[in-house]
Amino acid sequence: MKILHPQTNKQQDTKDAIITVVGLTRVYPVRPPVAGLKDVSFDIARGSFVAIMGRSGSGKSTLLHQLSLIDTPTGGTIHLGGVDITKLSDSDKSDFRLKHLGYVFQEYALIVELTALENVYLPAMMLGTEPKKYTKRAKELLTLVGLGERLDHYPSELSGGEQQRVAIARALINDPEILFADEPTANLDTVSSQTVLELFSKLNKELNQTIVMVTHEPDDKRYVDRTIVLSDGVMQ
Ligand SMILES: Nc1ncnc2c1ncn2[C@@H]1O[C@H](COP(=O)(O)OP(=O)(O)OP(=O)(O)O)[C@@H](O)[C@H]1O
Ligand SMILES: [Mg+2]
Repeated sequence: MKILHPQTNKQQDTKDAIITVVGLTRVYPVRPPVAGLKDVSFDIARGSFVAIMGRSGSGKSTLLHQLSLIDTPTGGTIHLGGVDITKLSDSDKSDFRLKHLGYVFQEYALIVELTALENVYLPAMMLGTEPKKYTKRAKELLTLVGLGERLDHYPSELSGGEQQRVAIARALINDPEILFADEPTANLDTVSSQTVLELFSKLNKELNQTIVMVTHEPDDKRYVDRTIVLSDGVMQ
């Protein structure tokens, strides 16, 4: 399960595919069955910033959930950094998620009883990283997202945009190969949305961070290298 780190990987050809999807299908076993994704195939290059777009119900979240190991497809294969993740056991999947992937959700998903700093270092703590090391890194990341002065504040003491920036810092704590975001700006006002997208763009350009983001905002296209458009579970 060895895959390369984006920062140590800078010399590498960025055209390398970090995600390879072949014949991906997800049928939900409801009655009658619903095909959320139908035979989707594509590659995503390492170091790219990709948007997944399409109308409501077109399969955007379904696709993101398959790519990010939140859900299991009913057909097809997904390779992340050369690893066929559809073949991993449940415990290997949890391990893979924690070590290699970062997540940003629409609703922030911060733990309300923990401060910004504690929220950010939690995934590193779960990996067994040394406390001194993860505290330092968490402070650096909160500074990077512009919240260096708000380390000890609880989520309820932060605005929506600030909470989302804490969530981004948390997503980066274990140096993920891929950052996944599902409509990260859907709950934010225009200014906070712009801040989040500019931050993603900076992470992508300066740290070569691979980012896959679901969005329904046509304007977001200007921040990304590439758009994958879905319609009724099919890639356009
Ligand atoms: N757990 C589920 N059980 C049954 N059907 C589902 C389930 N999750 C999603 N679907 C169906 O799969 C299709 C794709 O849903 P998905 O959530 O991926 O859409 P989306 O593009 O993310 O939409 P939105 O923009 O509204 O978030 C829809 O028809 C939806 O009703
Ligand atoms: Mg969705």
